[in-house]
Amino acid sequence: MKKTILITGGTGFIGNCFCKLLLKERPEWRVINVDVCTYAANPSTIKEELKNPNYKFYKTDIRDRGAIYKIFEDEKPSVVVNFAAESHVDRSILDPESFLTTNIIGTEVLMDACRKYGIERYHQVSTDEVYGDLPLDRPDLFFHEDTPLHTSSPYSTSKASADLLVLAYYRTYGLPVTISRCSNNYGPYQFPEKLIPLMIDKAKKDLPLPVYGEGLNVRDWLYVEDHCRGILAVIEKGRVGEVYNLGGHNERNNLYIVKRILAELGKPESLITHVADRHGHDQRYAIDPHKANVELGWDPVTTFEEGIKKTIKWYDENQWWLDECTSGDYMNWLNRNYKDRK
Ligand code: NAD
Ligand code: TYD
Repeated sequence: MKKTILITGGTGFIGNCFCKLLLKERPEWRVINVDVCTYAANPSTIKEELKNPNYKFYKTDIRDRGAIYKIFEDEKPSVVVNFAAESHVDRSILDPESFLTTNIIGTEVLMDACRKYGIERYHQVSTDEVYGDLPLDRPDLFFHEDTPLHTSSPYSTSKASADLLVLAYYRTYGLPVTISRCSNNYGPYQFPEKLIPLMIDKAKKDLPLPVYGEGLNVRDWLYVEDHCRGILAVIEKGRVGEVYNLGGHNERNNLYIVKRILAELGKPESLITHVADRHGHDQRYAIDPHKANVELGWDPVTTFEEGIKKTIKWYDENQWWLDECTSGDYMNWLNRNYKDRK
């Protein structure tokens, strides 16, 4: 009998990449995607998956306890991977509430369903942002799994709260959980509110590229498929109750990223526009992935140069997908977030 894996947020950027990976490399698994499809989910993202007999989609909110219990009853998943989240820091600064309800209460509902119906593994997809940030002048410092949680934004605080709840369910109820904390992902199908697809979209249209502050903040960029292989390794080989950091040792500052995109697209650096900084802007994220490497044999294989070329090429060839994302409410978001930064 096929094993059933329930993915939440599988219409979003990373969750969809994970579904694609499973359908390709684990044909013995049935993949159930539960996603309410917020503004961040472009329905076209899962067009191909919907044709696959091993794939099923429920348009459902993870906060809806009754609906979630019914899906567990009907589908009997043995593994649950929770990607569903409100995921954009700038939106969390303007409107925190949905971050608290989806990212914390949604996690609680899913884990209650796991307890009620029984599962082999609940995996929580978390972020390195739960550790706060590192100073720019200490390149010797990295986030380790035991680095204290010290959050900056409503987004990272909601993710850290969820992580603590997951560990509490392990200790209190013995729920077989794992957590992975990864650095910034990039690749195809990322909603163009995040740095890389936003800048690609704007550069292609010869619009100003809004760099917050001086653009010296550093992120540790991880190609999305490498991240998904890391999650699979945690599910298949990770120890229950443990946290695994997944990072790329690919530190770059924002200005470097933006210049790289402009160069690749043959656009002038004069498009760069420095705008008012993000409140509480984290300086540097940098993960030590040693534990995942030693225990799981996981290593990211995509170099930044290779990954960014593939990513830019994909957005260049799939402008229709970006156009679908940027229709509707997107312009209101740009107005709200960027209008007062000039
Ligand atoms: P995303 O915003 O692209 O996708 C999130 C998905 O969750 C969307 O499809 C959305 O419709 C769905 N969703 C939101 N609220 C929901 C709800 N209440 N019920 C059901 N579905 C809901 O996000 P992403 O970049 O794919 O991130 C996935 C996970 O990885 C998140 O948990 C995020 O915190 C984590 N993460 C992301 C990054 C990154 O760089 N993108 C880095 C570290 C961690
Ligand atoms: P983002 O993609 O929002 O991810 P995160 O805040 O989770 O790291 O932002 C990545 C970096 O890019 C961050 O330092 C903020 C910066 N940034 C800009 O300079 N301009 C922008 O318009 C956006 C969206 C981000």
